[in-house]
Amino acid sequence: MNTLTAIKKRAIASVGWLESRLQLRQSIWPVMRHPIPAEVAHKKGWWYVFGSVTMTFFLLQVATGICLAMVYEPTAQSAYNSLIELNEVTPLGWLMRSIHYWSATGMVVMLIVHMTQVFLMGAFKYPREVTWLFGVGLLVLTLGLAFSGQVLRFDSDSYWGVSVAAAAAGRVPWAGPSIVHLILGGEIIGTSTLGRFYALHVFVLPALLVLLLVGHIYLVVKRGISEPPDPDEPVDPATYDAKYEKLLDRGVPFFPHAVYRDGIACAAAVLIVVALAVTLGPKGPLALPDPTIVHAEPRPDWYFLPLFAVAALSPASMETFLMLGMPVLGLMVLVAIPFVSGSGQRSASRRPVAVLCVTVMFVCLTLLGWYGQVSPWSPQMDAWSSEAVPTRIVQRLSPLELQGAVVLQNKACRNCHALDGKGGQRGPDLTDVGTRLNRDAMIRQVVQGGGNMPAYGQKLSSAETKALVAFLMAMRPAGRPPAMIPAAPAPLQGDPVQVEPVQTDTVQADSVQTAPLEAAAPTAPIDADSAKSAS
Ligand code: HEC
Repeated sequence: MNTLTAIKKRAIASVGWLESRLQLRQSIWPVMRHPIPAEVAHKKGWWYVFGSVTMTFFLLQVATGICLAMVYEPTAQSAYNSLIELNEVTPLGWLMRSIHYWSATGMVVMLIVHMTQVFLMGAFKYPREVTWLFGVGLLVLTLGLAFSGQVLRFDSDSYWGVSVAAAAAGRVPWAGPSIVHLILGGEIIGTSTLGRFYALHVFVLPALLVLLLVGHIYLVVKRGISEPPDPDEPVDPATYDAKYEKLLDRGVPFFPHAVYRDGIACAAAVLIVVALAVTLGPKGPLALPDPTIVHAEPRPDWYFLPLFAVAALSPASMETFLMLGMPVLGLMVLVAIPFVSGSGQRSASRRPVAVLCVTVMFVCLTLLGWYGQVSPWSPQMDAWSSEAVPTRIVQRLSPLELQGAVVLQNKACRNCHALDGKGGQRGPDLTDVGTRLNRDAMIRQVVQGGGNMPAYGQKLSSAETKALVAFLMAMRPAGRPPAMIPAAPAPLQGDPVQVEPVQTDTVQADSVQTAPLEAAAPTAPIDADSAKSAS
């Protein structure tokens, strides 16, 4: 007996041994051979590959993600450097990052394509409503993964991404501040924020996604794949099951008649992603995040551009509704779809409203996305360098206040704040701010930030703060008294916010002013403790 036949015999014996233990022929094999409608095994079958492609991208994400997790460090101090290390030191680290990014892009794209196809072909109708709901859950989780992943990049884009998200969450009525605290792990975006997003991105969301995916696929196999829609065969829950049963009697097994299409599509998709990854390289990291440097134009990854544009476009009064309401509303619509139109016509040719909805949605998302990409988001990124402080204002300033004007320019406050209507629109116009805020409130706003404004406590020396506050206090129409509290300003203790009473004419005039024209917001005296915890 020669060795070759011996090896062959051995191999067959081992396979037999494994099979007798695992009994795959009884479990997996029937699943692979489950019948599908015969039409799906023909050309029309190409419409059915998008789900598999999405799943393939997810698997690619898991594989590359594990590699990345070995090097990445989720702390504010080292996240950035570990990405640079991956890009430049770790062998093939750049490729892993690159594939992870492009495959995430592919996953979102294919998910949208898959959902659109399922919607237009009416595949969500009876008896596959729950399959659709699992799909909606998978969409939410995928976007969650995309967002949390983008945060882990922890560069200037990601920093502002979290700020915007936190600002949106902060607007939730009543629970807002607690939610922000929960998301950020404190008042500021830092290591505890990264830790949270890391845990979400690496453990929580993928685990949930796998769970939903198992349910989704179970239902796809159990309730069968939908037959291509036929305008003459609307879905009637009373008769559908029997009809489908008959269809399967004439059906063909999934393996190999349909599976090869999935295989080809997935292989092509992976090849495209790898080609993109090799030619275009990994995304970022961009500049280090720095709350005071906002001229690195922040942009979220493309799938969030439409929402970003909504936030930038909407007037301040509508922002809360739009930022919080739109995603929730969109989700509710998606969940309602199979219940509202769970039966009847499946063919797109007989569902003009459905086709119109899809078209309008894509046009809106594209326009918004485009707007989000090209428009300067307020903060307007060059306002600080292109708009000088208006001469009208400069003329009446004392030397200290003039210094404050310079600080305002240098710290790029005008990316968000206008003077005489010129400058960013993210925050209020500061031309009359001296009539609205008293000195304490002014200091607190600058040092602690809040309400969508970064904290500047550690970015300003006490001399700069002093000058800045003097300037801001002077910002009111001539002859108009400043907002003032009757008592002398509470003494400030300790760095970094030590601001002595400002010795200028304007401010001295303030201290004799006892009846404020405009009631100043009641303010707690700012002390070193609260200032430190915020900055
Ligand atoms: C990223 C944008 C942004 C930047 C940069 C920014 N601010 Fe603000 N600022 C805001 C927003 C938003 C508000 C409104 C906060 C609120 O609604 O509570 C605000 C409020 C204020 C207020 C209170 C105005 C009022 O009428 O209530 C002052 C004063 C202020 N900012 C000063 C500054 C100074 C000084 C700087 C530069 C050191 C600065 N801001 C930089 C966004 C910004």
